[in-house]
Amino acid sequence: MQIDLNDKVAIVTGAGRGVGYEIARTLADEGVVTIVADFRQDLLDGIRDEWEEKGWAGIQVLCDVRDKEQCRAVATMTEERFGRIDVLVNNAGVAGGGPTEAVSEEDWDRNLDINLKGTFLMCQAVIPAMKRQKAGRILNASSFAAIVPSLGSAAYASSKAGVVSLTRVLAGELGPFNVTVNCYAPGMIPTEMNRFAEVDPARQEALLDTLSLRRWGSAVDIANLVCFLSSDLAGYITGSLIDISGGKLATQMPWAAHRDER
Ligand SMILES: NC(=O)c1ccc[n+]([C@@H]2O[C@H](COP(=O)([O-])OP(=O)(O)OC[C@H]3O[C@@H](n4cnc5c(N)ncnc54)[C@H](O)[C@@H]3O)[C@@H](O)[C@H]2O)c1
Repeated sequence: MQIDLNDKVAIVTGAGRGVGYEIARTLADEGVVTIVADFRQDLLDGIRDEWEEKGWAGIQVLCDVRDKEQCRAVATMTEERFGRIDVLVNNAGVAGGGPTEAVSEEDWDRNLDINLKGTFLMCQAVIPAMKRQKAGRILNASSFAAIVPSLGSAAYASSKAGVVSLTRVLAGELGPFNVTVNCYAPGMIPTEMNRFAEVDPARQEALLDTLSLRRWGSAVDIANLVCFLSSDLAGYITGSLIDISGGKLATQMPWAAHRDER
């Protein structure tokens, strides 16, 4: 069985770095025309050469997912230039805030605006094309924080829980048009967002102790899932929240199974 994504057209938001970048380059390497969207021009400039050198199809576009007009412009441009929109990956996201009592309104709004409203605006922008095509895949980055939130993550966890509900609503609304909508919940992937691999060693051990597989996730793990969910093989999966956390808190004390190795 092979995943065939050749010539599909995908938009990946927040793809200038981190997990989104890996998703975009993995899709591109699978033959997908990849629209790499980010709100930082410097990040887009940094990856343009790689697309040219590898001969990958697609373009880099500036898009702040908080801005409805920019979201619509990306969708319109994609359809006009490449003929269709097969896949939307709503990866753009931010974290931060702190304890509920102290979290600033600005941090609250930033998390909700980018993580939840940004996802909503990009979905709105691509829905008309996907309905016309009677086909499409929407994949939304949620987080393990939507399943079990960590302390101090009020803004982030709330936004990511909202992404889960939005995903399910959309799955219902778009089912008649053969458009599937799913979200995934990464656990801990060291990136510039969280710098997990740079925190003090004792804290790293405590974090890894929560995982059945007891290792950090990688952006490639998420990219592989996105490839599968984007493919025809995943045509009967919709409205799902897929836990891709290495078995975080799958049992009450996952570290106990690794006791002999430590
Ligand atoms: N890394 C993890 O452990 C982890 C865990 C759970 C969920 N996630 C989710 O995965 C996604 C990617 O996370 P990451 O770790 O790669 O983060 P990251 O900070 O490395 O990358 C985020 C990207 O989004 C872009 N971005 C931010 N705001 C934007 C906006 N308004 N418009 C367009 N682009 C914007 C940034 O420029 C950046 O390129 C996020 O949605 C995050 O919440 C990550």
